[in-house]
Amino acid sequence: MADEHDKGHRKAPAHIYIRVMKGGPYLVYGNPPLDQEIVIPNENGTPWIYRKGTLKFAGKDPMELCRCGASADKPYCDGSHNCHEWDSSETAKHVTDSEQVDVIEGERLVLHDNGGLCAFARFCEEKGSIWNSVHDARTDDEVESAKREVCHCPSGRLSLWDKKSGKLLEPDFAPSLSIVEDPGIKVSGPIRVKGGIKLISAENEPYEIRNRMTLCRCGKSRNKPFCDGSHANARFNDGLTQIARRPSEDE
Ligand code: FES
Repeated sequence: MADEHDKGHRKAPAHIYIRVMKGGPYLVYGNPPLDQEIVIPNENGTPWIYRKGTLKFAGKDPMELCRCGASADKPYCDGSHNCHEWDSSETAKHVTDSEQVDVIEGERLVLHDNGGLCAFARFCEEKGSIWNSVHDARTDDEVESAKREVCHCPSGRLSLWDKKSGKLLEPDFAPSLSIVEDPGIKVSGPIRVKGGIKLISAENEPYEIRNRMTLCRCGKSRNKPFCDGSHANARFNDGLTQIARRPSEDE
């Protein structure tokens, strides 16, 4: 069973955790902040930053977040999961990230790639391919560029290590949640979970605690509870995308 925090970044306090409800929503305990993050592209059209949106934070404990994609009160649950057919089954394996990654080694960096977790956020496409960028990175600028792309990967599919020191190059996130909006492809994305928040299955089995993960909220992922990018094909849209001009909060 995966309950170890094997990558060395911090865990959220124990009172903050998420529970998957059988056939129902996510229950979020401990009142972590919930925000909206809108993917903004650069001049080349590649996703570049997250900009804060204007979501009204319910601030309930536990907070019920829609998992089926049908709520009329997204991102919150309104009981719609009981009123339509959807496949709520959790199909993600209870294994550690290190058990399912491909490893790409360059001169200065090592990339771990857990392809099953891809949330189709596309921050890794800035220089064409993060896999080649990591392999070819030699200068400090090239290392920083690769680090930037990997650390913006919301799902944690990609993680990066300094080859010489063996240190994981990971952002230091406070425990928090956000709903992702991707207006560049006119869809809404997953729930972005940051800062080592524990996730427990409907069968009461914890998943590996990770600094970055993305949870499906469209109901279509084949790797539930995690997002697998299916929201893009499903054209999932929560109708909540309004860009607030607060660039100082861009990440
Ligand atoms: S939100 Fe990404 S697959 Fe459902």
